Amino acid sequence: MTTPLTSVLAGTRILPVLTVPSPTTAIPLAAALAEGGARCAEVTFRTDAAEQVVKAMAAHGGLTVGAGTVLTAEQAERAVAAGARFVVSPGFDEEVVAKCRELEVPVVPGVATATELMRALRAGLDTVKLFPAEPLGGPDALRALAAPFPQARFVPTGGIGIDRLADYFAEPSVLAVGGSWLAPVALLECGDYAEILRLTAQAVERSRP
Ligand code: 3PG
Repeated sequence: MTTPLTSVLAGTRILPVLTVPSPTTAIPLAAALAEGGARCAEVTFRTDAAEQVVKAMAAHGGLTVGAGTVLTAEQAERAVAAGARFVVSPGFDEEVVAKCRELEVPVVPGVATATELMRALRAGLDTVKLFPAEPLGGPDALRALAAPFPQARFVPTGGIGIDRLADYFAEPSVLAVGGSWLAPVALLECGDYAEILRLTAQAVERSRP
């Protein structure tokens, strides 16, 4: 049985989206996120280091680590072999969804339209990523898209920062909010883990009902 995404989130409603240039930053990053109150993190497959970063962060033990920007079934396979416990994609791809089913990991495909959402629901999924949430129109767009689909749950991601959190969490269809603002590449490059911890704790605090 595939674990539901709600278990992956483990009570938090914040999903840090990470683009980590080097595996050497994985452990201090995992420590800062976990200490800030995050319970999971999405490592995007946008760098050559992604697999190693998933491995290192999963070994840290303080977070449920998933893979993001997964575009192909082959990437999903590599991500799960590296220790990813969930898979996120910017769009809806049947092969990625089928592979994740086979591997029994939760998959969260991105949708930007009602048509894509209908395809995801037809594939048996009930949780999707609304991407890119802010350029699509933010919480207003989300509310309008969600209205015909009361069974759908959303993880809006894309262009969201701390100031917009409350507006997204006011939507009952929002399961969690994702974003890279908690651990931006600039902070990773200068090793400012204290600031990553602070941003994470701030977001976790504001995500509480
Ligand atoms: C993603 O891959 O989910 C997005 O690039 C994250 O969006 P953000 O960087 O605007 O938070």
